Amino acid sequence: MASPTIESILHEKRLFTPPESFVQHAAIKHIDQYQALADRAARDPAQFWAELAAQELHWFKPWDTVLNWQPPFAKWFEGGKINISYNCLDRHLTTARRNKAALIWEGEPGDSRTLTYAQLHREVCQVANVLKQFGIKKGDRVGIYMPMVPEAAIAMLACARIGAPHTVIFGGFSAEALKDRLLDAEAKLVITADGGFRKDKTIPLKAAVDDALANDGVPSVENVLVVQRTKADVTMVPNRDHWWHELQATASPHCPAEEMDAEDLLFILYTSGTTGKPKGVVHTTGGYNLYTHMTFKWAFDIKETDVYWCTADVGWITGHSYIVYGPLSNGATSLMYEGVPRPSNPGCFWDVIEKYGVNIFYTAPTAIRAFIKMGDELPKARDLSSLRLLGTVGEPINPEAWMWYHRVVGGERCPIIDTWWQTETGGFMLTPLPGAIPTKPGSATVPFPGILADVVDLDGNPVAANEGGYLVIKHPWPSMMRTVYGNDERYRRTYWEHIPPKDGQYLYFAGDGARKDEDGYFWVMGRVDDVISVSGHRLGTMEIESALVSHPAVAEAAVVGRKDEIKGEDIFAFVTLEGQYTPSDTLKDELKQHVVKEIGIIARPGEIRFADALPKTRSGKIIRRFLRNLASGEAVAGDASTMEDQSVLDMLREG
Ligand code: WTA
Repeated sequence: MASPTIESILHEKRLFTPPESFVQHAAIKHIDQYQALADRAARDPAQFWAELAAQELHWFKPWDTVLNWQPPFAKWFEGGKINISYNCLDRHLTTARRNKAALIWEGEPGDSRTLTYAQLHREVCQVANVLKQFGIKKGDRVGIYMPMVPEAAIAMLACARIGAPHTVIFGGFSAEALKDRLLDAEAKLVITADGGFRKDKTIPLKAAVDDALANDGVPSVENVLVVQRTKADVTMVPNRDHWWHELQATASPHCPAEEMDAEDLLFILYTSGTTGKPKGVVHTTGGYNLYTHMTFKWAFDIKETDVYWCTADVGWITGHSYIVYGPLSNGATSLMYEGVPRPSNPGCFWDVIEKYGVNIFYTAPTAIRAFIKMGDELPKARDLSSLRLLGTVGEPINPEAWMWYHRVVGGERCPIIDTWWQTETGGFMLTPLPGAIPTKPGSATVPFPGILADVVDLDGNPVAANEGGYLVIKHPWPSMMRTVYGNDERYRRTYWEHIPPKDGQYLYFAGDGARKDEDGYFWVMGRVDDVISVSGHRLGTMEIESALVSHPAVAEAAVVGRKDEIKGEDIFAFVTLEGQYTPSDTLKDELKQHVVKEIGIIARPGEIRFADALPKTRSGKIIRRFLRNLASGEAVAGDASTMEDQSVLDMLREG
């Protein structure tokens, strides 16, 4: 449950009421209004969601059953026919939104593009037709491995349009990681780019796809569609690889949206867990559409003229739900930025806000902490007065970072929504509604209406105010994950068996520790399992260990998170070597590089420490608690008497 913020959070008492100027125009203006909504939803969640589904979305055919709950398997809006690409595009075309900017895109080298709803619709239809030409049809999985360019969103919407589930793989993953995911999803086609721009360099995406597919590495993949972005020299394999722009140019811009069952698979998104390989989180069409739509609408209090910017990558759930689907379903203007702050351009985020007059800005605590380090001058040198609402996601935000965000970026006039949620939940679970809920720095505040969240002990009993426990959700919600792709058992085990049902109610186990304060506000403390968060990127320690032991020099590896001022956590690896190898700095570098090759740059260990042995219990279990203490240079806490060999600890301490 390591987090850099626990101490400060425990003593945090500040309360910020929504500024009057904001409340005036907010859709939900008062905590009583929130409470009335939440109470009504709690009395009959199915009815609550059904009303909103009818009011907010277009259905080709209404559903027969709102909720079919066979714990732990939920089905929402069964029998209903819907298409999320239709809801994100077509339905806006007959309104004044037709020529409104749907996507504003700023490339890293400074190029830019704006696509209106009409233009985006046209391109999505063209690409959907290209996919059809390759025989892609409803149910076929398509891998997307792209930089942050509009084509990434177009590819997702084109898949959704014809009912082909997409699986987006973050461009920072290596060829190996890409291959694992394409294999698991049995993807039939891959959409990629020649490369992408990242921190003044280019990343060779197409080359990674070539590596993943080499020697028939992923037999299911028949075709690769390549977007030209960096103009890198790439090898186009005849009959397999095709240029996007060539095929798009001749494709018809007419492609009716496929009528999907509400429960048809929309996408698979791989995420890290405690054990084994990353799991494919399955999301379906209708419930996900509704929930991302409603959370975007109410939590961002979206207005017709807003320019909204989420700095995530489309390779993560945040990009899926709150760059593409949530905003476009609402007819909002969603800004995409290819770059990240870098030494050559540390003020780039503030430039983008100034250039486009961004009104709503949504980013991660790790970015905020990096900005603090760079000093107030950068944001202060730009005109940020267009901002009216700020958001954060991905990890607990420490109150100091929250205050800085509030003061320096928000000019003390913008509410901050701290949104707690997960790949598995599809959308926000805990978040203030900015016009209604007073905020406390470091707290994700209260559940979204319709979400029954609590903090319980391992038996499922609610814990007392301010006591630590496990964060659970007590009633199914529309965008909950449906299963782990191809593995119902793993789904059941991971999320529903840690805590037994309580009074007949099944409890979704989120994997986070939390407490509720005397006002019922939630304070999320961080993961209670072997998942670590490095710059907000979620990684399983076991994945990194597996990567390390796949190197011939490594006998055994144990990975823990170490507190990091900026990244939240950093990766610390303890490694024992095979007899014939000797520790050296060169070997350390080699092992770090090896992890980059196996997983990707986001998993590169910050530090590797060689050891003769790892601390273990008499039954042979690695005692991670000790390793966490050692990694952060703390005294080893707790009873070491169960340890097999006491001298191991002394040795590790000495490094
Ligand atoms: C963490 C990202 C505290 C948490 C949307 C969760 C947070 C994991 C917050 C999911 C927050 C996300 N406060 N912790 N506001 N938001 N987390 O699947 O540990 O990449 O379980 O989804 O991030 O990460 P994931």
